[in-house]
Amino acid sequence: MQIFRDISSLQLSLNELRLERKTVGLVPTMGALHDGHAALLKASLAENDVTVCSIFVNPTQFNNDDDLKNYPRTFDLDTEFLKSFDCDIVFNPSVEEMYPKNPLLKFNFGGLEQSMEGSHRPGHFNGVAIVVSKLFNIVNPDRAYFGQKDLQQYKIISQLVKDLSYNIELRQIPIKRDDSGLAMSSRNKRLSAGGLKSAAKLNQTLEEAKKSIVDHKDFDKVRTELINNLEIEGISVEYLEYVNADSLESVKNNSPNNSVAVCIAATVDGVRLIDNIIF
Ligand code: PAF
Repeated sequence: MQIFRDISSLQLSLNELRLERKTVGLVPTMGALHDGHAALLKASLAENDVTVCSIFVNPTQFNNDDDLKNYPRTFDLDTEFLKSFDCDIVFNPSVEEMYPKNPLLKFNFGGLEQSMEGSHRPGHFNGVAIVVSKLFNIVNPDRAYFGQKDLQQYKIISQLVKDLSYNIELRQIPIKRDDSGLAMSSRNKRLSAGGLKSAAKLNQTLEEAKKSIVDHKDFDKVRTELINNLEIEGISVEYLEYVNADSLESVKNNSPNNSVAVCIAATVDGVRLIDNIIF
């Protein structure tokens, strides 16, 4: 497994592989790798000749300095993890390598970014779109792999690929959960034993929300009940939204033509977690 810190040596190596007509899969990550990332890696390794995993905690997508400071950084463990999957290349640039100067570019994703993560984390998707475009330009992959847990991020990156005519196939990989149902996330590393137990309630809540879709209940009413139940357990809910799984527009009740996604963001044990279920 090769590790590159600078863009030019990574590109030299990728150019040689391209001359050999090798296909390239990109798995962009911020490190602190877990089984959710393993699913992305496995999908890339199965579909491409070469897999590049980027590890870069991207400062431009954090709207909270403490969140950026506390984001887990476990590079040595991550490289061991990647070696165990036979990942070919790790790209681990410094902040200066990725951003010699602060970027000025501003993206506007319209309605796609006006709810949920977009409205609660101002500037977040601009930072995601900047770093993902840079990674796409640097690596020039045939395929790129993202997790369903970041559903809104996936929609925004799909829009980015369409609007900027990137010739890249995107893959959305289903959420991996631990035995309690908790969606795997790098942030779970910061939860205490009690926090891990509480965090499992997020998935239980999504399952109850799913039942309300099947039972054709009024979403607004169920939503209020579900939020109250979590708040009673000491979980602070930022949002719980029923949305159209394609457009991410808010929906009020079940309709046979649309699949519904229920998305949640909540703070457990001081750690902000997100999850969703598509039905
Ligand atoms: O999903 C993530 O881990 C990040 O948002 C990404 C796509 C690697 C961009 O920094």
